[in-house]
Amino acid sequence: MIRLQSGDCLVIASHNSGKVAEIRALVEAFGVSVVGAAELGLPEPEETGTSFAENASIKAEAASSHSRKPALADDSGLCVAALDGAPGVYSARWAGPTKDFRIAMQRVERELREKHEPDSRASFVCALALAAPGHETEIFEGRVFGSLTFPPRGTRGFGYDPIFVPEGYRQSFGEMDPQVKHAISHRAKAFAKLVNAVFARHQSQ
Ligand code: IMP
Repeated sequence: MIRLQSGDCLVIASHNSGKVAEIRALVEAFGVSVVGAAELGLPEPEETGTSFAENASIKAEAASSHSRKPALADDSGLCVAALDGAPGVYSARWAGPTKDFRIAMQRVERELREKHEPDSRASFVCALALAAPGHETEIFEGRVFGSLTFPPRGTRGFGYDPIFVPEGYRQSFGEMDPQVKHAISHRAKAFAKLVNAVFARHQSQ
C-alpha cells in the first residue's frame, strides 16, 4: 500500500495547471509537496485505456517511472446509461479539436433522440490513480448519479455541466454554486477515498 507523509513530494501527472493547483491545495494540508508533470518536463502518454481507471493508471505510472517518485493522475468523464456508458473515456474527444462542449452536448442529445430513448440517467465518474516505484498502483473512484436535461442550462462549471442535474437537486451543475458542486462531485468523492486511505494514519497521529 502506498502511504504519503509530511515531507514527501508527489508528482501530479497532469499538464492542466488548474488540476495541479486543485490537487496541490488538497495534499499540502498534509505536509506533502506537489510538482506538476509539466514542471518536470515529463512526456504526456497516450490515453489508450478503455476505462477511467486504466487511463489514470497509464498517466500515473508513466509519471512515476520517469520521475522515480509517487505520482497521482485522474481521469474523468460523463457516462450516459442509454448510450451504453458513452461518451465515457471519450468525453473530452467528443468536443472535437476545438474542445467545444456545445458540440459534445448536442451529440449526446442527438444520439439519445436517434435511439428514441426516454431514459435520461447519467453519471459523472472520476478515477484517481496513485503510482509509486515498487508498489502496485492504487485506484480511488468516485461517481455522482443524476439525469440529463436539454437544452443545456447555466454558464458555470465546464464540460458537460450544463446538461447534468445531480440526483436530489433541481439545478444543473452549470447553474449550481460551484461550492455545492465541489462538495458532491465525482472528483470530491474520489479525493475523499484517496485522503482516507493514503493520509488517514498520519491524520490521526
Ligand atoms: P479528463 O479527465 O481531463 O480527460 O477530462 C474528461 C472530460 O470529461 C472533460 O473534458 C469533461 O468534458 C468531462 N468532465 C469530467 N468531469 C467533469 C465535470 O465535473 N463537469 C463536466 N464535465 C466533466
